[in-house]
Amino acid sequence: MKIPMLLLMAVWLNAQSGGCALSSSCPHPPSQWCSSLDSAIQCGVLKQCLESNVTRSRHTSDQVEVGLYYESLCPGCRMFLTEMLFPTWLMLNEIMSVTLVPYGNAQEKPDGQKYVFECQHGEPECLGNMIETCIMNMTDAAFPIIFCMESSADVLQSAKSCVELYSPKLSWDSVMSCVKGDVGNQLMHQNALQTSALTPPHQYVPWVTINGEHTEDLQDKAMNSLFTLVCSMYKGPKIPACGEGKIHYRSYCHNE
Ligand SMILES: *[C@@H]1O[C@H](CO)[C@@H](O)[C@H](O)[C@H]1NC(C)=O
Ligand SMILES: *[C@@H]1O[C@H](CO)[C@@H](O)[C@H](O)[C@H]1NC(C)=O
Repeated sequence: MKIPMLLLMAVWLNAQSGGCALSSSCPHPPSQWCSSLDSAIQCGVLKQCLESNVTRSRHTSDQVEVGLYYESLCPGCRMFLTEMLFPTWLMLNEIMSVTLVPYGNAQEKPDGQKYVFECQHGEPECLGNMIETCIMNMTDAAFPIIFCMESSADVLQSAKSCVELYSPKLSWDSVMSCVKGDVGNQLMHQNALQTSALTPPHQYVPWVTINGEHTEDLQDKAMNSLFTLVCSMYKGPKIPACGEGKIHYRSYCHNE
């Protein structure tokens, strides 16, 4: 799983920097490996750095809140989550928070004390939504795990190894007992309530909210460049990633 993730980052950074190749050399001493995303990638330690940083947030009150209402198997959702939302969050996680609500166009019916769910892409999607929901309830490392699943060829098949990779202390058995039990059922019901409470009601997926608000304009901007949108919405103290992003990426080209 490490390779696809780094590969994807490389592809994404490549696109952002106008197509220059990533340097494979690591010019930094170990003490600085996690000092920036660039050095973490250059030195091949992105996963390790992220694990220690995943809950980092310096300016909580000013943070831009990005909400994603999606379905685990919807192709457009997977593309937005893996190619836009996750990379943007890697760069900007100190000024943005992400809320993922896997449910989308699913339907629920009460059945005794529980709920029965029907998903747009069938049973496998309901299972994917439920696994991701349970993981979010069980670990702080949920976003990298969900990214890992959604960027894999098979979202469901990859789930176990994604959990083992990004949250080694979380047992797969405990995830599955959430998925099959009352906790998962209640958590999914909360997703249903949260989705049906959207104003305006969602008309499609992926459906993006910024600070709880959805407009066509915000949606379009999020789809085009969430990075630019989040930087422009952020009203707190300036951070280097927003101001110098472009110049930063070009440093990858120095060796060419
Ligand atoms: C990790 O956190 C430290 C301290 O908060 C920060 O300086 C550094 O930039 C972060 N590294 C990455 C790769 O996000
Ligand atoms: C996990 O779900 C339980 C049961 O719904 C809830 O009480 C708890 O606050 C949740 N924890 C997190 C971290 O979301």
